[in-house]
Order: sequence, then C-alpha cells, then structure tokens
Amino acid sequence: MTVPAELTFAEIDLDAIAAATGRVVVIVTPDGKFDSAARRVNRLTKGALARFAESPAFDKLKPGETAELAWPAGLAAEALQVVKLGRRPDVPTARKAGVAIGRAVRGKEVLVLAGSLRHAAELALGALLRAYAFTDHKSKSDDADDKGPGRLTVMVAKPDAVRVEAAAAAALAEGVFFTRDLVNAPANVLTTSAFADRLAALSELGLKVTVLEEPELERLGMRTLLAVGQGSEMPSRVVVMEWNGGGDERPLALVGKGVVFDTGGISIKPAGGMEDMTMDMGGAGTVAGVMKALALRKARANVVGLVGLVENMPDGNAQRPGDVVVSMKGDTVEVINTDAEGRLVLCDVMWYAQETHDPVAMIDLATLTGAVIIGLGHENAGVFSNDDTFCDAFLAAAKEEGEGAWRLPLGAGYDRQLKSEIADMKNVGGRPAGSITAAQFLQRFVKDGMPWIHLDIAGVASLKSEGTYAPKGATGWGVLALNRLIADRYEG
Ligand code: BES
Ligand code: MN
Ligand code: ZN
Repeated sequence: MTVPAELTFAEIDLDAIAAATGRVVVIVTPDGKFDSAARRVNRLTKGALARFAESPAFDKLKPGETAELAWPAGLAAEALQVVKLGRRPDVPTARKAGVAIGRAVRGKEVLVLAGSLRHAAELALGALLRAYAFTDHKSKSDDADDKGPGRLTVMVAKPDAVRVEAAAAAALAEGVFFTRDLVNAPANVLTTSAFADRLAALSELGLKVTVLEEPELERLGMRTLLAVGQGSEMPSRVVVMEWNGGGDERPLALVGKGVVFDTGGISIKPAGGMEDMTMDMGGAGTVAGVMKALALRKARANVVGLVGLVENMPDGNAQRPGDVVVSMKGDTVEVINTDAEGRLVLCDVMWYAQETHDPVAMIDLATLTGAVIIGLGHENAGVFSNDDTFCDAFLAAAKEEGEGAWRLPLGAGYDRQLKSEIADMKNVGGRPAGSITAAQFLQRFVKDGMPWIHLDIAGVASLKSEGTYAPKGATGWGVLALNRLIADRYEG
C-alpha cells in the first residue's frame, strides 16, 4: 500500500528557515511581492530571491508555475523552489502549484512557506497527489522514487484553521492512492480474489463489505458476468461496499468494471500493448478509492459501491463468439465479440445494484471502449446520462476538481445497432459510435426513472505520460470528482 507523504501544518517560524534541510518552497506574487517569509529568504540568500523576482525568467512563469535555485547560499536547504502565486489563488491554480512542488517531495523533507495563502490545503493536496510512486515491485532502492513518501511541512499563519481541510485532503489522497495502487498492480498479483481481499480489508474503516462468490452469483442469475470469467482459472467475484453515513436516505450506487486482465477472450487482442489491459479494472479501482475516501473523512452520505471482478481469458471453457447468455435481468445477449466483455460484467452488477439497494441514482465507471480514446483522447472521460440535471452536477464537480469529462449523446438510433436476429440484443454495435453503442447496451439495464451516469474512463484511468495530478501510470481519475459530487449533492 502506497502511503501519502506525511503532511503537517505548522506555525510560521522565520528562524527555522535558514536551518531547514531538504527543500524550501517560497511564494512570490505575480507582481513580485514578498511576504515576511520571502523577505527572510531574500535576506538569508543575500538578495538572490529579489534578483530572481526581477528577472525575465520569473516574468515568463505563469501563476502556479515554479522555478528552482539549487544549493542556495545562506540556506542549509539543497534547493529553493520559488512559486509564482497570488495570495488568493483559485483552487486549480493552488493545486497546480502543489503539483509542481509534489514532483520533488518523495524521499525529501519539504518546507513550504505558505503564510496567509488562501487554499493552502488545496496546494498541499496537489503536492500529495503528485508525490505518488508505485514501488511495490522494485527490489533495488537506488531509484530516486524508492526513498519513501517524504515529508511536507506547510508553515501557515493559522495552522488550526487549515487542519480540518488538511484532514479532508489527506483522506482524498489516500483514496486516490488506493485506486492507483489497484490500477497499477499487475494481473498476477491483483487477481480477482486478491482484489476482493483488499476490498474486504476496508471493513476496518467502518465500511460494510460483502464478497459474493460464484455459487451465489450463479444463484442470482448473473450469467453474463459469469460467462466472461468462465475461461479463467481465477474465480469471479462481486464485492459490495456500503458506507452508511447518511441516516435512512436511499444510497447513491457506484458500479465499477473490474476486469483484472482483458485478453479479449476467444476474440483475442493483438500482442502489442496487451500488457496495458492490467488496468481494465480501473472502474472498480475508482469505486474502491471513492469508498475509502468517504470512510476516511466520515462522509455524511449513504453510498454503495459494487464491483464485478473477473478475468477475461481464452481457454477450453471460455465463452465463444455466437454464444447466447441470459443476464440477471432476464434479457438474452448474443455474444458477437468476447472482447466486448465489460458491458457483460456491468449489466449484471447494475441490475443487482438496483434490485438489492434501491438507489436514488446510479453511476457506473468502466474502461469500456477503445473508441472513447479515439473520440476524446486522454484529456476527457466520456460521460453519458439519461438525466440532464444529474449529469450537469457531475460535470460541474469534475470541472471544479480539474478532472476532464465530456458528455456524449445517447439515442434510439444508436440503440438499433444492437439488434440481434436470435437474441434480445448483441453485445456489439459495429464500428460507428462504439462508445455510444456500449452505453446504449448498459442503458438497457437501467430501470425506468433511475437517474444514471455512465463514465467511460478507458482514456483517462492510466496514462503513458504525466497527468494533471499524477506521475505516469494510474491517475485515480474520478475519485476527486465523485467525492465532490457526493459532498455537494448528498451531504447536508
Ligand atoms: N478493455 C477494453 C477497452 C479498452 C481499450 C480499455 C483500450 C482501455 C484501453 C474493452 O473491453 C474492449 O476490448 N473493448 C472493445 C470493444 C469492441 C470489441 C466492440 C474495443 O474497444 O475494441
Ligand atoms: Mn475487452
Ligand atoms: Zn475490457
């Protein structure tokens, strides 16, 4: 388990600056103003900070960007990082500055001289989120990333006032790290049952966790989910995580696709890049991260998270193209392509969620289609919904949190692409609008009147280059946005 850097908010102590080892971070406003800490740094460095603040290099920085003076004379620190930031930044800019700081937090002591900066806790959150590294499988410790999580001390004018926000930030960082660890884990380590075990361990935080095993799934009639897993040696599981912080309100249901590895099954994928399919449980990973964050911050809301954990493998028992399977709902599905497996997993878990938990609304998350990457790239998740108000609330939450999300349409015309000659529907709708026909498939398993959002996160769950808040690899996309949606819409 990757733990976030230790975060402390402390009183301003100007006399501690000179002796601080590690890194010192100082803030200069865009118009070149110094607070008392910056003045002290400037004096200790014999005017170096002022010379930098008057230089073209400082001029070129945008708000939230930073520059570094290495081995500054007059300070014990190994580096002085200068942040260009107004005293009252908005949340995204404060986080952006934090991310720039976070790139160098791992294995270090970092002292941030934040003074009376607005949103100091958001800056700290940005730093914590960026200072993540997945080192579970590194056996050598000479890698810079291997020196432990690091320690972040933020000196502020009113530490007590910031601490409450800081506790929430730490909870969020832990939730996001939980997601990233799950998404980054290889499929021989994070098997379906290992995944279920990690989720069961969340009960220590006060979540009620139930693991449904194959005989129970069989009894419930979850045949489309079981058909995906039947070619694997690993058992299929459905895990239900309940957070009851909101009295007797009906819960919000979060449903996640948890394909621990997607070979494509008999409709097997090409070898090149197949290793990326370890992230095909990203939807389940995000649901798990949100549930952990809610428990850690003791959210005053009722939320139930449900994940379908399967492995899509080709073997003698695997489902075939052309098979017809019966979903828990009772609708029959002609499996044209065994690589369109995510929707087969989700449709049963979504149906179960509605039948068993009577939710007020339902959101599913899945690394569902390659087509969403063609459409939106890695900047935005695809958002689909049957409810404009609900959808707008989610889009607003995602925007506030700096997580890209873009709505795409649904419509009867797209639904017709799923017509089967021999069953109620096919599991694929052909090449045109591949992400939309996948969403149409799911919508057939949403009950009338149920507000629903489908998030296709195939392009955003894991990246080959640095993301907004994350280094290369798993991003934890959606944990922040869903946490915000829950805070805004379901708490108080
Ligand atoms: N897990 C994939 C989608 C995916 C692709 C996720 C790339 C992340 C990155 C999904 O199960 C899949 O294989 N979808 C097919 C659907 C097709 C067979 C209709 C696809 O997108 O090609
Ligand atoms: Mn697939
Ligand atoms: Zn898949």
